[in-house]
Amino acid sequence: MSLIFAAKLYNMTNRTFTMIKPDATEKGNTGGILQMINKAGFRIVAMKMTHLSKEKAGEFYAVHKERPFYGELVEFMSRGPITAAILEKENAVEDFRKLIGATNPANAEEGTIRKAYATSIGENAVHGSDSNENAAIEGDFFFSKLEQF
Ligand code: CMP
Repeated sequence: MSLIFAAKLYNMTNRTFTMIKPDATEKGNTGGILQMINKAGFRIVAMKMTHLSKEKAGEFYAVHKERPFYGELVEFMSRGPITAAILEKENAVEDFRKLIGATNPANAEEGTIRKAYATSIGENAVHGSDSNENAAIEGDFFFSKLEQF
């Protein structure tokens, strides 16, 4: 294995992907959420604000295509601007899932982003990758390699 490849592999396993969703953008919570992310020790290595088309939102969440909430999810995620970012930290995927809290904010623990900012299971303020493999796929969905620092 070349050193460059090994370094890339190392970085990938210490990165996760997040989106600050349209509900949080609408309420002006982007800054507050980014502050929680930074305070928890994550380094932002890519970031952009964008507005997903229905087609792009559907593509991003294609894994949920057969779920009853898919249509609602696509409508919601294309409702307004989101902020997409790649975050770096040791054990990034797992630690970020802890920081965001349960999908349903009613079950989210005190101190989590969803406890502070989410309103429902659908409008839950942030997305976080569920595995290293998906973190890499989702990051590459939004950012070219040149945009990942
Ligand atoms: P996220 O972590 O972005 O991944 C999939 C999303 O689907 C999830 O957050 C929720 O926003 C949404 N979701 C999951 N379950 C439901 C549900 N029962 N009803 C509506 N949306 C849901």
